[in-house]
Amino acid sequence: MSERRVTIEQIRKKKANGERFAAITAYDVVTARLVDEAGVPLILVGDSLGMVVLGYDSTIPVTLDDIIHHTRAVVRGSQRALIVADLPFMTYHRSPEQALESAARCLQEGGAQAVKLEGGKAVAGTVARLTIAGIPVMGHLGLTPQSVHQLGGFKAQGKDISRARELLEDALALEEAGAFAIVLECVPSELARVITERLSIPTVGIGAGPHCDAEIQVVSDTLGWFSDFVPKHAKQYARLAEDAAAALSTYVRDVEAGVFPTEKESVAVPEDVIRALTEHDA
Ligand code: KIV
Repeated sequence: MSERRVTIEQIRKKKANGERFAAITAYDVVTARLVDEAGVPLILVGDSLGMVVLGYDSTIPVTLDDIIHHTRAVVRGSQRALIVADLPFMTYHRSPEQALESAARCLQEGGAQAVKLEGGKAVAGTVARLTIAGIPVMGHLGLTPQSVHQLGGFKAQGKDISRARELLEDALALEEAGAFAIVLECVPSELARVITERLSIPTVGIGAGPHCDAEIQVVSDTLGWFSDFVPKHAKQYARLAEDAAAALSTYVRDVEAGVFPTEKESVAVPEDVIRALTEHDA
């Protein structure tokens, strides 16, 4: 094994050292390489894959095979980052044994170093089972997209006292069960601050304000792959959709006008070869 990847111990220590870090999703070799070279220590092969890459309107149709396929690509494209594979809907809910089999496939076939799963106290036993088996687990609380129908939409969570208390208890249960980090998605920033202060493992926010130990974003939002929708919690650091659209229109116009390709982009052949060919044909 020539590569030296970030370890979960190093991720944990970042919190102890008060060192903030950026995490991001990736689904393919090209993006993984860019993200890795930017120094991102944790890449999530998120089930957002379903919406970002596969064109579904939720994460629910994503399969374990989809995640494994894309995890392999991300592993091939990166050398340094810790790779976390997202366990899709219904690949860990039935029993801790089912979760163990799904997670083991992500490590053995996908090459991931850790998995992520959604839920709090209800999945704590599963988190413990995976951790005991040597599979690092990242938790995910707040807006958990696999429960979109239960939550009644992609809505912020933890805005009333009972839900806020529940989320704090969920976070403590995940830590107790052995999770090495917890994503907090779309929860009020002050609740994220309280949870972050209570935990010794890093909180990784998305739409959870500035008080988490780390931030995670969906790479398509950060790079502007889509021009029609930018979530409130995202910041576009590039507008790749607009740049790509302009580039592709120019390409189409150039081909139609005979401006591309030219001899410069072509392969040369000695003149006598063509002469011999055409003389023979004549
Ligand atoms: O699937 C995903 O991209 C995620 C992030 C939003 C954390 O779970």
